[in-house]
Amino acid sequence: MSDERLTRLLGIEDLSRTTADRILDTAEAFLEVTRRPVRKVPTLRGKTVINLFYENSTRTRTSFELAGKRLSADVVNMSVATSSTKKGETLRDTVATLDAMHTDVIVMRHSASGAAQYIADRVKGAVVNAGDGMHEHPTQALLDAFTIRQHKGTLAGLTVAICGDIAHSRVARSNAQLLRLLGANVRLSGPQTMLPRHCKGFGCPVYDRIEPAIEGADVVMMLRIQQERLGGASFSTLREYSRVFGLNRQRLERAHPEALIMHPGPMNRGVEIADDVADHRRSVVLEQVESGVAVRMAILYLCARDPGQPLGA
Ligand code: CP
Repeated sequence: MSDERLTRLLGIEDLSRTTADRILDTAEAFLEVTRRPVRKVPTLRGKTVINLFYENSTRTRTSFELAGKRLSADVVNMSVATSSTKKGETLRDTVATLDAMHTDVIVMRHSASGAAQYIADRVKGAVVNAGDGMHEHPTQALLDAFTIRQHKGTLAGLTVAICGDIAHSRVARSNAQLLRLLGANVRLSGPQTMLPRHCKGFGCPVYDRIEPAIEGADVVMMLRIQQERLGGASFSTLREYSRVFGLNRQRLERAHPEALIMHPGPMNRGVEIADDVADHRRSVVLEQVESGVAVRMAILYLCARDPGQPLGA
């Protein structure tokens, strides 16, 4: 395994298979750390991680914070609402200011596609994209792949159906690329109004009905309707969406009998996923959250460690 530092994680598009495997393999070791009674190692003592979230988040922001703290890094959560952004400071000046404080890793979520790339080109520290507009959410895809691997051993040859609001989903874009990179067969499915024109370019079969997409699937990944990004009416009512496209018990029977049920969260229960499916014995939604901490520990470690530094020291 290469000893080089990871200097940026902006998307899956520019991630190699070797680096993806390196992150997933490293996360295996950190999953064990997160399950210990004392969930802390001194690995990144003296390193600084800043979480800069311009959009709301529960899972991603908290898990990056926990990941940094469990590695003993100094973690700062910038509150954009009370920062000088509100006085008109530009993104460029904000990140230059954080960089001047010798920050090792900036983790950023922003509503603009390409924002992570923009700052990565302007700072000395590493940059991790925690979601940029409708573009990419690479750490979500990595934790999803990690969760599937934990259950199935490998991604190779599995059929994964990604269903819902494909058009507005950075999770769909990152997952379609990563899961294919790791050898899975990916199917994309959404109502016509939620299938972007360019999604054929993802290289996956595309379905405008959910039933054929989940037929025999090993994994069914439901997506949240991104109500905050819907420009116009993409469907008549939430009830209608649930009736035509929601994952319920009856539809789930079409998938493989041991199919995993996934959702990146936050879930709209009763809309894209029925309550009893969200809580089904094969639902791994909370395992995805647990994986998120281990995978983000792996990413921070690979970005901020000193050369040759072992995982636990
Ligand atoms: N899946 C995800 O990104 O969740 P948050 O928006 O809560 O971070």
